[in-house]
Amino acid sequence: MTSQKRILELREQLHEHNRKYYVLNSPDISDMEFDMLMRELQDLEALHPEMYDANSPTQRVGSDITKGFVQVAHKYPMLSLGNTYSKTEVAEFYERVRRALNEDFEVCCELKFDGTSISLTYVDGKFVQAVTRGDGEKGDDVTANVKTIRSVPLVLSGSGYPQEFEIRGEVLMPWQVFDMLNKEREAAEEPLFANPRNAASGTLKLQDSSVVAKRKLDAFLYYMLGDELPCDGHYENLKMAEQWGFKISDVTKKCKSLDEIFEYIDKLDVERKNLPFATDGIVIKVNSIRQQKNLGYTAKSPRWAIAYKFQTERAVTRLNEVTYQVGRTGVVTPVANLDPVQLSGTIVKRASLHNADIIEKLDLHIGDMVYVEKGGEIIPKITGVDLDSRILIGDKVRFITKCPECGTPLVRYNGEAAHYCTNDTGCSPQIKARIEHFVTREAMNIDSLGPETIELLYNLGLVKNIADLYSLQPEELMFLPRMGTKSAENIVAGIAASKNVPFERVLFALGIRFVGATVAKRLARAFHNIDSLMSATLPELMAVDEIGERIAMSVQQFFAKNDNIALIEQLRFAGVQFELAPEVLSEHTEILKGKSIVISGVFVKHSRDEYKAMIEKNGGKNVASVSKATSFILAGENMGPSKLEKAQKLGIELVGEDDFLSMLEAENSSEFNPEN
Ligand code: IVH
Repeated sequence: MTSQKRILELREQLHEHNRKYYVLNSPDISDMEFDMLMRELQDLEALHPEMYDANSPTQRVGSDITKGFVQVAHKYPMLSLGNTYSKTEVAEFYERVRRALNEDFEVCCELKFDGTSISLTYVDGKFVQAVTRGDGEKGDDVTANVKTIRSVPLVLSGSGYPQEFEIRGEVLMPWQVFDMLNKEREAAEEPLFANPRNAASGTLKLQDSSVVAKRKLDAFLYYMLGDELPCDGHYENLKMAEQWGFKISDVTKKCKSLDEIFEYIDKLDVERKNLPFATDGIVIKVNSIRQQKNLGYTAKSPRWAIAYKFQTERAVTRLNEVTYQVGRTGVVTPVANLDPVQLSGTIVKRASLHNADIIEKLDLHIGDMVYVEKGGEIIPKITGVDLDSRILIGDKVRFITKCPECGTPLVRYNGEAAHYCTNDTGCSPQIKARIEHFVTREAMNIDSLGPETIELLYNLGLVKNIADLYSLQPEELMFLPRMGTKSAENIVAGIAASKNVPFERVLFALGIRFVGATVAKRLARAFHNIDSLMSATLPELMAVDEIGERIAMSVQQFFAKNDNIALIEQLRFAGVQFELAPEVLSEHTEILKGKSIVISGVFVKHSRDEYKAMIEKNGGKNVASVSKATSFILAGENMGPSKLEKAQKLGIELVGEDDFLSMLEAENSSEFNPEN
């Protein structure tokens, strides 16, 4: 078989396996077999760039090309739905429809998915575009990002689909993915997403679709539009769409009476709690499209549909005490200790009170009956006080002024809501949390050391800071409770192995405030070693891509402390890496220094990822969209027409891949300057 034929065969097979896995939930090959087919296709496509297909299954991995989103006008406006919160209002809607139609009608009841809406366009059975709701008239073209969602078919299966149509639905982040993402963000000290809806819409708007691909979004489709839809029934159209490969909820149901609708609402209000994704209500739609057209629209929403919103689950319980937790960076978080209460399937005993302002706003008193809600957040929160049940007033809750662990007066920085304990070298929970952070997989990867052992070692005075880890001996560990010779040796070996962890991860492991893994990488690449970083001035730090004043000041404050300098010396003495490896350094040049480069099109010699890495290694910056500030465009085949037009208008040079590669081979940047 020719490679070309094999490419086509593999594409077809992988589209089908994707559908079985992500839409039907019934894969018939193993993940490994799937990966092997995918790899084979990737290799063949790399050898045959002339076979490029924007809808190939390989395109789902996302490209790291960053681009501003292009705004696209919706062919049909994306309206919202009227909301109701009671069955009476649902009955009123039903009655309005009945009177307006004056004939029999059915409704389709569906889940109201709590994500972000999307409109997908298909032409000749192929996915061509995904646009967000935007302002309803026009939205952002997020095609590249949506391609990474495995349950969105790139090529339709079966037959009977209209030559061109739109299908709308909701992009979701499943609970499991949401929880994991927030855990990672917490570890990297990045702000948490409040709920899966924000996480889904935030992810869909990311510039880097390879990051989107990692976030594992999902999509349910619930509404089809076009001039030649197969059926008059909305429900029937969705069933057809399911055949073509779209993910349609299997709890969607046609109802013929108000009682059936109420039954559906009651059933789903219970069942939804076990679903792997968030929902916030039920949508009720008149099923016949002819009847939908008859009913028409108000300015904002269709007259043929309505949303019934579920009550947010809320419990009332007694506030017994407010305690305070000190985190790794010294942030003090107030925690409400409550009488245990059942909420959304779990028993809640503690809830976050976030910060002093929130306590003040709630006017909390010990003994108050408080409302607790989960509302998407991982940790339940207190949303109010039941003032009617306040008979005896307890002590007013006042935010503490001293650290509950070490007694240091707390400080509140300008513009921040949090209070901090600044005793970072003497406050035990901060030290223990820093050691825990130091050993994590993303940092020094000493996975033989768990939090309990760290607690024990700290309490026994064997490890008082991260550097002490490197002088631990197996004999000291062996006699600890629940520790054998083997585990002790494993721990010491794990610590020794961490001396090979590259500088950028060591920098992250130090736990400098606001220096997450990505920032650490940027700093390491810019300053090459710890000594240059320690002596960097504020402007020098801020000259690094994406490092602003907040991060730069935090880095300076960290190195201004003698205790931290001593710690670094101790780590250096132990053999921890404090400079970039020579291989990394030698590849780094300044040939593209000061250049902002846009990558566009399809390449033959290297992938976009590789070109991006080359730009960065040579001191350049890969930027999102074409602007006046763009130095040149690294242009492959089939460059996007809008980019091309903009480049021509602004007179920005296009550099082909061969020229780009020889530019990097040139000994110094003056030999080739595309701006001349
Ligand atoms: S139908 C013209 N069906 O709710 C009506 N919307 O306020 C088009 N949503 O923006 C929408 N689940 O993001 C429809 N089963 C469902 C839905 C649903 C969630 C969202 C959608 C829309 C909002 C309406």
